[in-house]
Parts: sequence; C-alpha cells; structure tokens
Amino acid sequence: MTDLESRAATAPAPAAGEVSFPPGFVWGAATAAYQIEGAVAEDGRTPSIWDTFARIPGAVANGDTGEVACDHYHRMPQDVAIMRALNLRSYRFSASWPRVRPDGGVVNQRGVDFYQRLVDELLASDIRPWVTLYHWDLPQALEDAGGWTNRDTAYRFADYALNLYDAIGDRVPVWTTHNEPWCSAFLGYTGGQHAPGRQEGVAGLVAAHHLMLGHGLVVDELRRRGTDAELGITLNMTVADPHDPGDELDRDAARRVDGLHNRVFLDPILRGSYPPDLLADTGHLVWQGRPWPSVVRDGDLELINAPIDVLGVNYYKGDSVSGRPHAQVTGFDGSHADRATRTPFVGCEDVTFPSRGLPVTDMGWEVQPEGLTRLLRRLDADYDIPPLYVTENGAAYDDVVDQEGLVHDPERVAYIDGHLRAVHAAMETGVDVRGFFQWSLLDNYEWAYGYAKRFGIVHVDYDTLVRTPKTSALHFANVAATGRLGPIEA
Ligand code: FCB
Repeated sequence: MTDLESRAATAPAPAAGEVSFPPGFVWGAATAAYQIEGAVAEDGRTPSIWDTFARIPGAVANGDTGEVACDHYHRMPQDVAIMRALNLRSYRFSASWPRVRPDGGVVNQRGVDFYQRLVDELLASDIRPWVTLYHWDLPQALEDAGGWTNRDTAYRFADYALNLYDAIGDRVPVWTTHNEPWCSAFLGYTGGQHAPGRQEGVAGLVAAHHLMLGHGLVVDELRRRGTDAELGITLNMTVADPHDPGDELDRDAARRVDGLHNRVFLDPILRGSYPPDLLADTGHLVWQGRPWPSVVRDGDLELINAPIDVLGVNYYKGDSVSGRPHAQVTGFDGSHADRATRTPFVGCEDVTFPSRGLPVTDMGWEVQPEGLTRLLRRLDADYDIPPLYVTENGAAYDDVVDQEGLVHDPERVAYIDGHLRAVHAAMETGVDVRGFFQWSLLDNYEWAYGYAKRFGIVHVDYDTLVRTPKTSALHFANVAATGRLGPIEA
C-alpha cells in the first residue's frame, strides 16, 4: 500500500451511491474581477499589479492580459442570466480595488456603480451575492509605494473596503476580505510567479502579515458599524503528505510546507499567534535590517484573531512533499516556465514535490479528492472554526467545442462529482460545511497561464465572447436543483 492509499483508507470512503446534501446547502460559482471583467481602462479604473505584470516578457503565457478577458463588465446581465439558468443560489465575485479607488486614491463613483448594478441584477434573480474584497488586483500605485510589504497598504485596504461597504453593504450578506492570501504573499513576493513578481524571500512573510492585518482591520471596522453581514476570509490550503512517511527528511519537509502554506494563516486568524515551529524556522530571516517578526506590532494579532463567521476553503489538490531531490516533480501553483522564478516556500529550497502518479488535470495538478475530506476534517479537529464553505474547487481540461456547438467535459463532471462526495464524506463525520462554489462560472484569465487553461463550467470563445454551458454546467445545475448526486455508474 502506498502512503496515499493508507491515508485514504483512514479517511471515510465517499459513497458511490446516491448522496444528498442538506436543504439550504448553498450551491454557487465563483469568479474574480481581473479574470473576467476586462474594461481595464474604463470608467476611471487605473492599472492594477496584474496589468503591469502581464506586460513583463515571459511572465504570462502568450503575453495574455486581462484587457478584454470575458468582457463581463459589459455582459454582466447575460452572465447573471446564465447563473440563474444554472440554478445557482449564490455568486462569489470579487470587486476591483483600482475600479473602486483608482490608484488607491479617492472613491470613484462610476466604478462603484458597476457593483451596484451587479448586486441589483443578482438580487432580482434571487442569487445571493458573496463579495471578496481582494482577489489579487492591488492598485499599481500602491505597489509602487511598497505594496503588501508596506504596512500602510493594510490601512488603504480598509479604506477601500469601507467605501464599497457603504455602497452595497445593505444588500450583500457575506463579505470575505482576501482570496488566498498565500498566493498574494508567497507567489507575489517570494516566488515571483504572480504579480507583482517580486522574488525577495522573506518579503512573502512580511506581506502575509500585512494582508492579515488588512483582514483584521476590515473585520474590526465592519463590526464597529454594527453590520449584519457575515464576515470571513478564504484560504487555499494544501494537504502536505510526506512522500515517504518513514523518512525523517520528508516528514520535516511536509511540516515546513504545512506551516508556510496553511498554519501561517490559520494560526494567527484562528488562534491569535504564529506557529512556534514556523517562527523557529524563519524568525532569523532579516527584513529591512531586522528579523522579520519585528513587523508584528502590539495589537496586530488581536485584530487578526477577531472572530469570523465563515471560513472559505479553496481546494484543488494536496502535495506529496520530500526533503530530497526527485526526478518527477509536480509544479507549484501558478508557476510558469518562460521566466525564472523561485520556490514560494521561503527557506525550503531543498523541498521537492514528487508526483504520486495520480491522474492530473490540464494544470498538471493531481486529482486527489480524498485530500479534501482530510483537509475539512483537520480544520475541524485542530481549530475552533466557524462554518466552512468550499469557496473554490474545479478543474482545467482542454475542452473542445464539437460540431454541434456543444462542449462535453466528462473529466470535469467526474472531478466535480468526486470532490462533492469528498465534502459530503467530511460532513457525515460532523464537519459543518454549508456550501460549495464551483471554480469557475466562466473560462477566464488564468493568471500566469493566460487564456490557455479553461476552468469554466461555461465555455467562452475568446474571439466572439460567446458563452456555451458545458456538460459539467448542466450536471452542476441538476445537483444545485436537487441537492443530490446520483449513484456512480459502473
Ligand atoms: C485559485 C484562484 C483562482 C483560480 C484558481 C484556478 O488559486 O483563487 O483565481 O486561479 O485557483
């Protein structure tokens, strides 16, 4: 038995028969502003770090930018109509900071108006809006002032959040501060795979702290305003398994990756402290002449640890982790081959991610649904958690439109089915999961991979911008309507 098989054996086996989710379970889809909106220079919007990064030679596949993307800015009513036709009960979207406060400066009413219209359209269609305040599109002007390595950015983030809250707060019941701060911090400032593309080692830890400070400031301000909305954050977490559980080096590598991917956020947010082993590993690393933990000021951790109402979990795959060199190694999230980047795991230059020989998606990511069951159970066992929502899960496959204009994507259907069963298996053991959001509603701009990777349940033709629901969309619409998965066909 391989390690993965023995671990899978300890997780409850997902049912192969019919599976029912409780009434009220939230079925939704997610998107992000820069990935779908386009209209980057319209109605007062100014550049974000992604507009800038996309122009660095080799940074993004094919030199793709978000200039047009899915043109959602102009086609929003049509996209909401698609959601309605797919029986979605909730839509998780992000707002664009440089639209709402261009250059991070004063509020821009025309930018705010777009989100007003979107929320109106959703509510008229009986779809519950779920806002993410930051899905990676920092105003470039704020990056020029240091970006997330500058403590002041956290305060500017709170200003922007309050402007948006003032405009749509009465009609949006769920507000999450960040999407995947791991990517913002460590792909953006340590590894350089994502905007702003800095490769400054310990800067990722500094950025992570300021991202969490921004989260804490926003939660604090909104509570002071007596909001009725549910507040929270979305984290992307891995399940870090030692490649060889009998190997001390592999076990230690897995511990470090778990620390730098998961616990670096979970512990401050849910426990009010940094993990001691992470501080022991990294606390000597110097930022601007002093050990990096000196950026943590009195009171920060209390703010960051303020109670939250929802925790969003984004899961695509786990990792097999080794402290030894290996020939067959899977890529980091977001790595793109045409430009040299570094490991996003600061101080882990020795760590590798050997393949386990599992089936992979078009991203090269291993398909590992049982990891989601384990992740949800681990959160429940190790932390005092609020209700969980899977705020992203999905898969890229190389879809083709057939002669009848249809897109059959049986691999994505199987991926969705497997992961929903994995969520259900965790719920069966008592984990409080309240909803599931498909990543993504539309094929869209997949960051450093540009338009080459298709994650949508709705196909987008990038020449005509025509939308075509794939078989997976129809499958998901049926699940959303019935709350049930049918038996797996033999
Ligand atoms: C997540 C991001 C999302 C998308 C998916 C595939 O890390 O939140 O924007 O890129 O991965």
